[in-house]
Amino acid sequence: MILPNIKEARVRTKDKVEISYDKYNIPNTIKGIGKNKKYTILTYGCQMNVHDSENISGIMEELEYTKEENYEKADVIILNTCAIRENAHNKVIGILGRIKKLKEENPNIITIIGGCMPQEESVSNMLKDKYKWVDIVLGTHNIYDIPVLLDNIMKERKQNIEVYSIEGSIIENLPVKRDSKYKAWVNIQYGCDKFCSYCIVPYTRGKQRSRLPIDILKEVQELKDKGYKEVTLLGQNVNAYGKDLENKYTMANLLEDVSKIGIDRIRFVTSHPWDFSSEMIDVIAKYDNIMPYIHLPIQSGSDNILKKMNRRYSTNEYKKLFYELKEKIPGVSITTDIIVGFPNETEEDFQKTIDIYNELKYDLAYTFIYSPREGTPASTMKDNVPKEVKEERLQRLNKVVNKYAKENNEKYLNKVVPVLIEGYSDKGNKLMGYTDTMKLVNVEADPSYIGKIVDIYITEVKTWSMEGVLNSDRN
Ligand code: SAH
Ligand code: SF4
Ligand code: F3S
Repeated sequence: MILPNIKEARVRTKDKVEISYDKYNIPNTIKGIGKNKKYTILTYGCQMNVHDSENISGIMEELEYTKEENYEKADVIILNTCAIRENAHNKVIGILGRIKKLKEENPNIITIIGGCMPQEESVSNMLKDKYKWVDIVLGTHNIYDIPVLLDNIMKERKQNIEVYSIEGSIIENLPVKRDSKYKAWVNIQYGCDKFCSYCIVPYTRGKQRSRLPIDILKEVQELKDKGYKEVTLLGQNVNAYGKDLENKYTMANLLEDVSKIGIDRIRFVTSHPWDFSSEMIDVIAKYDNIMPYIHLPIQSGSDNILKKMNRRYSTNEYKKLFYELKEKIPGVSITTDIIVGFPNETEEDFQKTIDIYNELKYDLAYTFIYSPREGTPASTMKDNVPKEVKEERLQRLNKVVNKYAKENNEKYLNKVVPVLIEGYSDKGNKLMGYTDTMKLVNVEADPSYIGKIVDIYITEVKTWSMEGVLNSDRN
């Protein structure tokens, strides 16, 4: 049993990051173990987790398990968890209750919990003490070890917790079963060293470490060869890509090299304002296949709060960057993240967030009520803002968010925009896809268009989506 330790998770050394190309392998004893068996993965949290789940699926399929969407019918249930806010945590606790019941009926079910939650000391200890029936607990650093952990469970049915609080390495050559045939996630960087005072990620994901350019470019080339239309480069602070590499190679260099591979659409998330260079902006502006869409979390419009958040920029610096993006990248759409109710946020602080929002008029924002995370500096700050006030602020902010979302969408009405058609819309009778600026469009069209980038004429705009028709269908 290896339990996490928050003090160790906080450590950052200058040690060289280890890159392994052969760490993952399947022990002979469990080859083919999944034959005629089914697995389900329930994924919570950010795109990094979504992509980790694609790797876990890849591993499960190499063990010959078959994917099953309904966890109630699965032989192995895997929870890939998120620790970013209390409600993410609560969702997992809720589902654990239901899995426990299933397991009482069928003790052969194997339950695996991975992702960011077990990286928290309190969670792993809770699983150890109160959830003994959970078979395997692993963290973000040892996905490659799933075959070995399963092998151990097959040999001896007792709970195995293996969660490492390490800076982390880079594991190449994990198998992957991607959810889409058209768009793909590509990790370019793991971990985070920013230590924003409210955030758990630097503790759950280890130090900021960049994959080698050669490995990234090879993956993108392979995706293009397979017919993929879009890649999204993933990291917690992608703009800082390369800072930890030996040779001088930046995010601007990477974007340019990825662009030259010639895949149709390139996106990247997330951009911390701190490392966004002018070179990077110039590259985005220069290449048509780098999408004019930037997610640029501001978190708060108050300099006082930003300082307490340890965000390392002022609102003026942020605005300068924002306007440079708007100026150099025609039609760019910019979205953001905002936390309301940070400890002791005053009405005046909050009003500054509303004011800056009214000035910048974002295309969209993901808004959250601050949630204290154990082990982070902010969680020890005394907080005099009542819950009701925080909730009311969130509602006030969301009204402003929705207003500008709709207004920004209105610019698209009666225009023709390219959309990558991904599949059927939620309502089923239409197809859906995204514009280059990341606007969701529903289209009435033949399913043969799925996987293609097509010109769509926008006929109606709403707050969260738009409706359109094939431009070629217009007479
Ligand atoms: N690396 C990204 C953010 C990843 S987390 C960045 O810095 O831009 C996604 C979002 O969750 C954050 O932008 C923040 O708005 C929100 N978040 C993080 N920790 C939080 C907390 N403790 N309470 C509420 N929201 C939080
Ligand atoms: Fe969290 Fe800040 Fe790192 Fe983003 S940059 S993951 S908010 S610590
Ligand atoms: Fe959640 Fe971990 Fe991502 S905490 S947001 S899954 S990095």
